[in-house]
Parts: sequence; C-alpha cells; structure tokens
Amino acid sequence: MLTEVQVQQLWDAARAAQTRAYAPYSHFAVGAALLDEHGAIHAGCNVENAAFPQGWCAEASALSALIMAGSRHVRGVLVLGTGGTWITPCGGCRQKLREFADPDTPVLSANSDTLGPAFTLEQLLPQGFGPGHLPAA
Ligand code: THU
Repeated sequence: MLTEVQVQQLWDAARAAQTRAYAPYSHFAVGAALLDEHGAIHAGCNVENAAFPQGWCAEASALSALIMAGSRHVRGVLVLGTGGTWITPCGGCRQKLREFADPDTPVLSANSDTLGPAFTLEQLLPQGFGPGHLPAA
C-alpha cells in the first residue's frame, strides 16, 4: 500500500524524468519512478538508439538508478507515457521489476496528465519467474 504522499512523490519524479527522455524516433517520452525499501524514490526515462533494438525503457533506467543508490527492493512503481493513454510496463520491464519487487507490489499506470488504474505486479506478470525459483546458491 502506498501513501498519498508516496504516490505524489512517484508522480513528481516520473514527470521530471520524462522531460529528460531521449526519444527522437518514437517521440514517445516515458518517465518511471520507483519507491525503494528505504522510502527513497528513483526515476528514469527511456533512451532510444539509432540501432532501434538497442534503446531501453524508462523502467530499466529507474532500476539502474535504484541499484546504483545501493537499494535492492522495489516497493512501488509508477510509469507514465506521452499523450492521453495510460501505460503499464512492457513485458520485458515486468520481468526486470520482478527481480526486485514482490508479486503484491503496486504498479501505477498513468498518462502524461493523470493516474490510470493501479495493478499489482502479479496482475501484470501472472505466475512470473523470480529469484525464488532458482535453487539457493
Ligand atoms: N517504453 C518505455 O520506456 N517503457 C514502457 O514500459 C513501454 C515503452 C519506451 C520504449 C520506446 O523508447 C518508447 O517507449 C516507444 O515504445
């Protein structure tokens, strides 16, 4: 469960990150923000590439920021796109998030103006494969 303040912080961080998006090919700027286990927020934008498959998503940038800050757990996600349609993380990003988030972690969809529906990661990645499926080292 996210507090109103945390949702506002995620929103503000995702919107700010979206302004940094490098999306000259799709013109679809995305911002993502993550709440970590310490209550800190980490954000990222999509970064495209002239060799199209080499670009990466806003969620991947935000995860990288979270890891670089020394955090290891995602307690909340917000992703917003360009225009009126609210978006959720792409399939690959759902899997990336699963590495650091629990199945009941809230994932908030949004467009560039307002929040859309909230989901759990389990709803977006049912029966997903996670670290717990591997035998302990
Ligand atoms: N994109 C994201 O950053 N996150 C998503 O969850 C969906 C798609 C980006 C990738 C690409 O730069 C642009 O949006 C259009 O697909």
